[in-house]
Amino acid sequence: MKKLFIKTYGCQMNAYDSARMADLLAPLGFAGTETPDDADMVILNTCHIREKAVEKVYSELGRIRELKDGKAKSGGRMLVAVAGCTAQAEGKEIIARAPVVDMVVGPQSYHRLPEMIARIARGAGERVEADFPALEKFDALPEAVSDTGVSAFLTVQEGCDKFCTFCVVPYTRGPEHSRPPEKILAEARALVARGAREIVLLGQNVNAYRGTDAQGHSWSLARLIEAVADIENVLRIRYTTSHPRDMSDDLIEAHGRIAKLMPFLHLPVQSGSDTVLNAMNRQHSADDYRRLIDRIREARPDIAFSSDFIVGFPGETDADFEATLQLVRDIGYAQCFSFKYSARPGTPAAAAKKQIAESVKADRLDQLQKLLLAQQDQANLAAIGKTLEVLFEKPGRNLGQIVGRTPHLHPVHVEASMSLIGSVHLVRIETLLGNSLRGSLA
Ligand code: 5AD
Ligand code: SF4
Repeated sequence: MKKLFIKTYGCQMNAYDSARMADLLAPLGFAGTETPDDADMVILNTCHIREKAVEKVYSELGRIRELKDGKAKSGGRMLVAVAGCTAQAEGKEIIARAPVVDMVVGPQSYHRLPEMIARIARGAGERVEADFPALEKFDALPEAVSDTGVSAFLTVQEGCDKFCTFCVVPYTRGPEHSRPPEKILAEARALVARGAREIVLLGQNVNAYRGTDAQGHSWSLARLIEAVADIENVLRIRYTTSHPRDMSDDLIEAHGRIAKLMPFLHLPVQSGSDTVLNAMNRQHSADDYRRLIDRIREARPDIAFSSDFIVGFPGETDADFEATLQLVRDIGYAQCFSFKYSARPGTPAAAAKKQIAESVKADRLDQLQKLLLAQQDQANLAAIGKTLEVLFEKPGRNLGQIVGRTPHLHPVHVEASMSLIGSVHLVRIETLLGNSLRGSLA
């Protein structure tokens, strides 16, 4: 057996892709390993969303170079691949900057890895694959087998046509493409057969899902969720990431009707200022978003929300930032991600004149994160004393403990038998320790 080390950066889609790459390389004799030290092949599955994410990859490549040199000295060989969104965005520049890299493969081309490995073994041929043969990839991949935890990711849609002015995704992941529903349902059944009990439907713009079945009928995400809910032993369904513009009526209604669809929605708004939202090309106002949240809450009163925020977008004034804080106060989030704006090469906002000083960004991020953290604590504390349904996912950190999640995605540690992993049980929530709840079986 050859040893394969994959390091994953960025979003859940990358985590899914890393698992698929492992599946793809297994027939070539590669088995996963936990460290790069002695690996025969290293894949860095990269993210390009912010500059920091890219810097991390290059510093990791520095360390990999030493390992590769060490292996060569003892007569071995380490193949190094850069995959993912930085691979797509930078292509052969990566090899120029980091000659340790043997091959570069974009997120729509990684089904070609076996071919590339063969080419490199022959010492000839193209070392960069970064086009968008989107229709080809999923057909060329083997059935998902590896990494099926109790909660399993399943990509249903890739790419983005929205072109928010800050974002690289439309360039790195290409245009929107939805997989056919039959393929998705077959994959969901296969995941369940291997022990998955929660299916997380993934897409860069997942609620824009528009799949076409063999009869030529078009499926919305709501219809897809309904079909996944019909699969026996699927206990829970989630989906991420959604755009407010694509929260269609049938999807909102699905939240009220489909019990397996969990009452938690990641619905990024980015900013609470209409001026900034407009400059971001988000295609909705802050009030549109407030009304949308109201409608979803009407359909599913116990739903919890999360969001992404960017502070220090070019031109953002103190008043714009205050509007973001106000929106956060109005909505009341369970948990959020927040970032300083990072200018990305090739995106429209990177060329905007009124870039915001780093110190101002840092100060705003600090203020926003304090508010978000207070809301998160409040959401956590609200769980204490309640009896909640927990889907147990894996052993906990301490012996005798198992860990699962509430419908609101809060992690819960309980002292209970490992045999409960993979099933839902009522847990009485007792305390909050860090960001994780403790409780006992009810
Ligand atoms: N700078 C900072 N944050 C960004 N995001 C996307 N692009 C940028 C950028 N250029 C954030 C958005 C998005 C999340 C995945 O990353 O908030 O929702
Ligand atoms: Fe990063 Fe976006 Fe690519 Fe995911 S899709 S890896 S978040 S750049």
